[in-house]
Amino acid sequence: MKKISLFICMCMLMVACGGEKRETAESNIPQNKVLILFYSQTGATAAVANQIKSYMNADIEEIVCQEPYSGNFEATIERCKKEHESGVLPALKPIKSDVRNYDIIFLGYPIWFGTYALPVASLLEKIHLEGKMIVPFCTFGSGGLESSIKDLKEQLPRSIVMDGFGIRNARMEYMQEELDDFLIRNGYLQGEVEELPEFNVQDELSETDKNVFHQACDDYQFPLGTPTSVSKRYTSKGTEFRFMTRDANDAITAKTIVYVELRNEKGAKAEFTKVVR
Ligand SMILES: Cc1cc2nc3c(=O)[nH]c(=O)nc-3n(C[C@H](O)[C@H](O)[C@H](O)COP(=O)(O)O)c2cc1C
Repeated sequence: MKKISLFICMCMLMVACGGEKRETAESNIPQNKVLILFYSQTGATAAVANQIKSYMNADIEEIVCQEPYSGNFEATIERCKKEHESGVLPALKPIKSDVRNYDIIFLGYPIWFGTYALPVASLLEKIHLEGKMIVPFCTFGSGGLESSIKDLKEQLPRSIVMDGFGIRNARMEYMQEELDDFLIRNGYLQGEVEELPEFNVQDELSETDKNVFHQACDDYQFPLGTPTSVSKRYTSKGTEFRFMTRDANDAITAKTIVYVELRNEKGAKAEFTKVVR
């Protein structure tokens, strides 16, 4: 049953997103079936939401707090702590969209504390998304897509939570390229993408690998650990590295993986693309 409804949703989405041209297309279905619903405090997630909207015949709505967060990082952390202690999620302005009218919801959020931001948690308590196909997308400082999807699946056991898109806010210049790749690879847009090889086996680090890690990670505001092993894959864009790391206390944190990209362009600097904890 789940498979069948997913198939139907996918077909509808393909119709809604179809067409070679990546711009708002005329939908072949009488009613708009795709909703892009997102929260964004400082604009990064909003940029992804608008880019998705530019590709497909979808409605879009921003989740807005009754009392907006200030936009200041420390102040937001403080407020979140208080909200966490009191167990009260932020009050939202009512959303205008009636989610019952949609089959597919692209749900966007910044990562806060390793998962979807509190305003999205607040919304999920209020709306019913049973049977809907949910496509998560997010922006983050270092990572959190995978953990937020795990949490979404727990929160929405009766929805079909798909693979999602995530990007570091420090790499927004690659957003369109990576979003295109995600949307095509997952069948939401037509187009061609390179077939990606698997990462090779996890191996000992060479001095060059260590230098790549340090170049990519040392200027990040929080420590990303010490690399202990690496695996790689080679694509037309460059080399992707998957580093296992040890934390500052030298404990083996086998589950912390830092992905780094070194592009082929001359003079390119290695950058980490995400941390998976
Ligand atoms: C309260 C708070 C908590 C955050 N927690 C994380 C986190 O756990 N991991 C992370 O990678 N980034 C974290 N960030 C960074 C945001 O995910 C990042 O800045 C995001 O791109 C902001 O998106 P926006 O511009 O759409 O609001 C946090 C930011 C705030 C304000």
